[in-house]
Amino acid sequence: MCGIVGYIGGKEALPVLLNGLKRLEYRGYDSAGIALFGPEGLTVHKSKGRIRELEEKISAEKLPGMAGIGHTRWATHGEPSDINSHPQTDAEGRVAVVHNGIIENYGRLKEWLISKGLGFKSETDTEVVANLINFYYKDDILSAVREAVKRLEGSYALGIIAAGESDRIIAVRRESPLVVGLGKGENLIASDVPALLEYTREVYYLEDGEIAALYRDRAEVYNGEGQVIEKEVSLIRWDAAAAEKGGFEHFMLKEIHEQPRALTDTLRARIRTNTGAAASIDLEEIGFNKSWAAENAGRVVITACGTAWHAGVIGKYAFERYAGIPVDVDTASEFRYRNPVFDSKDICIVISQSGETADTLAAMRLAKQRGAGIIAITNVAGSTLAREAGLVMYTWAGPEIAVASTKAFTTQLACLYLIALKFGVLRGRIQDTDMVKYIEALEAIPAHAETILSGKANIQRFASLQFNKNKVFFMGRLFDYAACLESALKLKEISYTHSEAFAAGEIKHGPIALVDTSTLIVALCTQSSLFDKMESSITQVKARGAAVAVITWEDCKHFDGIADEVFRIPKTEDGFSPILSVIPAQLFAYYCSVLRGLDPDKPRNLAKSVTVE
Ligand code: F6R
Repeated sequence: MCGIVGYIGGKEALPVLLNGLKRLEYRGYDSAGIALFGPEGLTVHKSKGRIRELEEKISAEKLPGMAGIGHTRWATHGEPSDINSHPQTDAEGRVAVVHNGIIENYGRLKEWLISKGLGFKSETDTEVVANLINFYYKDDILSAVREAVKRLEGSYALGIIAAGESDRIIAVRRESPLVVGLGKGENLIASDVPALLEYTREVYYLEDGEIAALYRDRAEVYNGEGQVIEKEVSLIRWDAAAAEKGGFEHFMLKEIHEQPRALTDTLRARIRTNTGAAASIDLEEIGFNKSWAAENAGRVVITACGTAWHAGVIGKYAFERYAGIPVDVDTASEFRYRNPVFDSKDICIVISQSGETADTLAAMRLAKQRGAGIIAITNVAGSTLAREAGLVMYTWAGPEIAVASTKAFTTQLACLYLIALKFGVLRGRIQDTDMVKYIEALEAIPAHAETILSGKANIQRFASLQFNKNKVFFMGRLFDYAACLESALKLKEISYTHSEAFAAGEIKHGPIALVDTSTLIVALCTQSSLFDKMESSITQVKARGAAVAVITWEDCKHFDGIADEVFRIPKTEDGFSPILSVIPAQLFAYYCSVLRGLDPDKPRNLAKSVTVE
C-alpha cells in the first residue's frame, strides 16, 4: 500500500525520486508528492492522480535539491486530493513526512494536538504524525522522531525530513516494510526493492522499531532506545531488467508470459533426477528431507489472502489427494479473528507473494504463538514473512509488478504440489513408480504453459466477442472449482466485469437464478471422472440461455457440440490442472481489460501490497 522513496547524495534528488516512485506506482496511484531541500529551503510539491500528473505540475519549476522524500498514495484516510497527498507537513512547515500504513490512534492524537492550538489542513493520519514530530522537535529531528513514534499505535513506514537539517533523512518502521539502500556517496530509502535497483543492491532491511538516519556518506541504524546497532548488509539478487516491461504493452502480459520460466526455476530447484536413482523432491530448505513431517504432522492449516488464498484452496485438495492429511484453509483476515485451535503437531503454511500483507502476517504470528510449525511460501526474500516464519520456501517468480497476481500464483501452486508430494512420500502414500509419473508431469508443466501462451490469439479473439458481457460466471468441480475462484477474481479486478466462481454442483441451489441470455459461463472441465457431472451443469445453464465456453484437455471430445466454444490445454495429471487452466483465464481477463480501455496493471481501488487491514 503506497510507495515511499527517499534520496540523499551527490545527484539531483528530483529525478531519482520520480524514477523511484514510478517503480513503486503499482503500490498505490491515486496521488503523489515529493519534498525537497533546495535553495529556498524545504519545498513540497503534490498532485492528485498518477505520477505523470505530478511531473507535469513540477516540470516548469527548477528543483535542484540533493535530498528529498517522495510518495505515491493509496488513500486510507481522506479522499485522493492534492491536500491529502503526501508528504504531509506540520502546521509550521518544519517537518515533512511520507507514510505507509495506518495510525490507529490518530483521532485521539489529533484531538490532543488541537488542544495544544495546532490546526490541520488534511484528513490524513499522516499530518498528525508530522505535527506530533514537530511537537517534540527542538534541534534534533532524530530524537523528535524517537519520542513521537512512542505515541503511535498501528502500522507505519515513515520517511521524514526537517527544514533545519538538510544533511539527513530519517526513516522508521513498524509492521510496514522499509528498506535502506546503501550507495557510494549516496543513500536511499524505499518501501520496496524495485525503487532501489538502479542505484544499489546493498540494503539494510529495517526491523520494527528501528530508526535509520541517512547521510550522504553513511547510514546509521538505532534501536528504540537510541543505541546504534550493527545491521547486516543484504544483497539484492533481482535482475533490474526483470522489473521492466521488456517490450510487452503491460507488466501483466509480461508476467503471464514469464510463467514458463518462473515455473521452471521454482520446480527445477527442488526436483532431483540423478541417473541411477529414483526421481525425488528435495525440500531441505523447509526441513522436509527428514521424516518429521511424516511422523509428526497431524494436520495442515493454510492461510493467505486473495490470489494466495486461492492457491491455498488448491493446496488443500492436493494435500488431501497426494498426502492423505487433513487440511484446513482459511483467508487470513478471518483466521486471525477466529479462535483457531492448534496443537504442536500442526503445520501452518502461510502464503504471500509480497510477504508483507498485514492480515497474513497477523495470521502467521497467531499460529506461531499457538504452537504451530510455520512454513512460509513467498516471492520476496527479506520480506517480513520470510524473516519471521522460520522455514521459507521461495517462489522463484521474480518481481511481480502488475497488481493482478499471475506468475506468483502459478509458482505458489508449484510449491504446494512439491510439498504435498513430498508429504505423500514421507507418509507412505506415494510409491516410487507413481512419484516418477508425478515428477515427469511437473517437469512438463513449463512447456505446456508455453504451448497455451502460443495460442493466445484464440483467447484474444474470444475476448473481443465477449468483453462487453456484464455477467461472467466460472464453474467447475474439485480442482477446477478452486481454479475458478482465481479465474473469476482476475476478471473482476482488472476488467470490472461482475464475475463469480461457483462449484458446478451448487449452481442449481441458487446461483442459477442469475443466469439468463446475457450470461457467459466458463466451465473448467479437467477432472476426467466428473465430465458427465459437468455436462449436466452445462446443460442446465444452457437451458436458461447462457453462452458456455469450456476449458478442457487437448484430447477431450466430451464437450464438443455441447459448449459454444471449447479451449484445449495440454494434458497433465488431473490434480495439477489449475496451474495450466488458469492461464487462458488470465489472458481472457487481460484482453477484456484492454478492450474495455482500462489499464490492467493499475486497476481502480487496488494496490499491489496490502500492508493495512
Ligand atoms: C489479486 C491479488 C491479491 C493478492 C492479495 C495477497 O490478483 O494480487 O488478491 O493475492 O492481496 O497478496 P500477497 O500474496 O502479497 O499476500
